[in-house]
Amino acid sequence: MRKKFLSVLLAGAMLFAVAAGCSSKKAGGKKIGVSMPTKSLQRWNQDGDNMKKELEAAGFEVDLQYANDDISVQVNQIESMINGGCKVLVIAAINGDSLGTVLATAKEKDIPVIAYDRLIMNSDAVSYYATFDNYKVGTIQGEYIRDQLDLDNAAGPFNIELFTGDPADNNANFFFSGAMDVLNPYIDQGKLVVKSGQKDFEQVATQGWKTENAQNRMDAIIAANYADGTQLDAVMCSNDSTALGVANALEANYTGKYPIITGQDCDVTNTKNMINGKQSMSVFKDTRDLAKQVVEMVKAIMDGKEVPVNDTKTYDNGVKVVPSFLCTPVFADANNYKTILIDSGYYTEAELAA
Ligand code: BGC
Repeated sequence: MRKKFLSVLLAGAMLFAVAAGCSSKKAGGKKIGVSMPTKSLQRWNQDGDNMKKELEAAGFEVDLQYANDDISVQVNQIESMINGGCKVLVIAAINGDSLGTVLATAKEKDIPVIAYDRLIMNSDAVSYYATFDNYKVGTIQGEYIRDQLDLDNAAGPFNIELFTGDPADNNANFFFSGAMDVLNPYIDQGKLVVKSGQKDFEQVATQGWKTENAQNRMDAIIAANYADGTQLDAVMCSNDSTALGVANALEANYTGKYPIITGQDCDVTNTKNMINGKQSMSVFKDTRDLAKQVVEMVKAIMDGKEVPVNDTKTYDNGVKVVPSFLCTPVFADANNYKTILIDSGYYTEAELAA
């Protein structure tokens, strides 16, 4: 009798141990595909590293791939993630419009897709979107220029030039309209003057967000409008890679007083430029927060729980409004970079040394 009781107890304990083992390893063996656009821009390396670290800490296996800014490479990589058994796909698209076909396959196989940072357009296969408040990024840049030039009080007029991002990146529209909703009233009043005349999104877009493309355009603008010593007061740049191109062109060919330059991302080179006075501000988007948020989404999906979102209205991809989680962007300049970038452990002091 006692023996029987003991063996029942033992069997129960074993069952419990197996069950506990299973739950602690719940995510074990579940593979998540993470598709990043390129290694050539600092932020995506950080995004990829953070995602991998966080997902692995949560017990997932990770297939992380970078597509070298080549759309067909990204499509192939996503195909291989689908065929390799990934249970969820996290994708920062190179071109928001070019993933429809491959994602249709994901949908057929019931693989949820999270658009990472950039919305994937015209596809009903996108389940969720995690990003920063992209419109707010632009607002912060526009308001900075407004306040620095004291546009509500100063007589002006002030000269400004405009640089935004890749037309195939839905974010670029949000950044640009966030900034221009602040600046346009002053342009309409004649207090801000775009001497080049290049004001429309298509005219001020920067193919591939590339530094050299922004630099070439700024070179041409300087030659045509500012080579005679005309003062340029501000350059609204939607991000750091374009701001870097503008700063390079100014350094090479502009002789007037250095203008206000905005940016976004707090890339190392640009943060150094802020410290040295070659860029006025940037918008810090803590990629660690975004990665954490996406991991929460992945866990909720895998556990069949409600997926955390905080915006169900803003991001219409042409087919559906994608439930989104928007993280908060933060203003950064030479005065606060130590607190937000170094004290928070994002960069070391040595990384930002000249
Ligand atoms: C991102 C920015 C980045 C840009 C260029 C955008 O989609 O939101 O942070 O600077 O792409 O890579």
